[in-house]
Parts: sequence; C-alpha cells; structure tokens
Amino acid sequence: MIIVIDGPAGSGKSSTAKEIANRLEIQYLDSGAIYRALTYLWIAADKPEKNSFLKLLPGVKLQTAYKNQMFFVELNGADITHAIRNQNVAEQVSDVASVPEIRKFVNDYMRNLVLDDIYIADGRDLGTAVFPNAALKIYMDASLEERARRRYMELQEDDGSAGVTLEDVKQNLSERDQKDQNRSADPLKKADDAIIINTTGKTFEEQISEIIDIIQNKLKLKR
Ligand code: C5P
Repeated sequence: MIIVIDGPAGSGKSSTAKEIANRLEIQYLDSGAIYRALTYLWIAADKPEKNSFLKLLPGVKLQTAYKNQMFFVELNGADITHAIRNQNVAEQVSDVASVPEIRKFVNDYMRNLVLDDIYIADGRDLGTAVFPNAALKIYMDASLEERARRRYMELQEDDGSAGVTLEDVKQNLSERDQKDQNRSADPLKKADDAIIINTTGKTFEEQISEIIDIIQNKLKLKR
C-alpha cells in the first residue's frame, strides 16, 4: 500500500513524509533522491550526452533505505546520501529528470520497492503517473518565499551550502518549479483526487496532525 505526497520543491513534503513514517511506523521513499542520484552519476561521468548516459543505466546498482530520519542512497556501492544534496546536483536535476527513459528507470525501481510493505512517498508525479491507484494522495504547497527560507535553513544544516545565498536558493526553486511543471514527461501536477494542504504559515506540528488525521480517517491505518 502506498500514500503519496506531491508538490513543488521545498513545500515540506519530505520532512512531513518522514515524520509521518516515524509516527505510523511505515516505510518512507524519497523519489527526488533517486533523480538526484542519477544526476550525481551523470555529473560524475563528465556529463555524457543522453544516449551514452542511458547505456549506463542497466548496470546501475541502486540501493535505498530509510533509517534514523535519513533516506540513505547507495550508488554502485558508494554512499552518496549527502553528496546528492549539493547545489550542483540541485541545478542539474530537473534537466536529468525531464528525460522519459530516466523517468521510466526511476518509476520501475519505485514500483518494485513498494510491493512488500506500507510506504509513504514524496515527489512530483506520484499521484498522477507513478501510483495512480495510491491509497491516499496529498498535494502540498506553500509560497515561494516560505519554501526558499525552509530549504535555505536545511542547506545550512547540511554540507552543501558553501557560498549559497537565500536568493540563490529562491532562484533555484523557482527555475525547478518552472521546469518541473512544464516538461512534457509527467510534469508536476495535482492529481484530481489529491487533497491539497497549503502549509504557508502553518507550524510543522499543525501540518503533521492535519495529514495524520486524514490518513487515519481515510485508511484506518493503525500499526
Ligand atoms: O524532491 P527534490 O527537490 O529532492 O527533487 C529533485 C528534483 O527531482 C525535482 O526538482 C524534480 O526535477 C525531480 N523529481 C521529479 N519527479 C519526482 C521527484 C523529483 O521529476 N517524482
């Protein structure tokens, strides 16, 4: 069974989904991290042109796991959990994610992963393209200013923030929103049956309780 949260960059999807996974004791899947992992691979391979890069995909060994509040990503045996958060990856990821063959690779990985357990996952197209039959679909949004402020604070706590200003983060989010909403392959879009949660001005605890209430009312999920 899967619950999905879609929405633009920095809307609070991943921190919310992680906290819900902790409280309900279910699994968490960060779909953006998988696009970031492939972007990391593309950069590490010296940014080859599309067809050469696609030839690398069948040999890619990807492993993900959620533990201790972290979504771990291993690519060909190397732990890239932190490296995929840097600004260089953030600047390229929407271009990499716009390639249909790459989307297919990521979607196959995710559909296979969630077969055996209860998951909450966050992304852009999970409710529309990847898991159209999800048990529950949430669409989270917040103003660009608030999203940039949150992402900037996150970056400061992580190791990918050297020399990056709040204005840089805002610019990056706005460009990614544009690309994610306007690409032809599975754009960022609210599913018709998704419930909208706008988190501007809400505390973290308020948004968590709101979504947990929805999950418990709709799915009667108790573990
Ligand atoms: O969620 P996060 O900001 O880490 O995602 C990084 C990028 O991955 C997004 O800007 C988007 O281009 C891409 N993405 C996507 N589809 C998803 C999740 C992420 O295209 N389901």
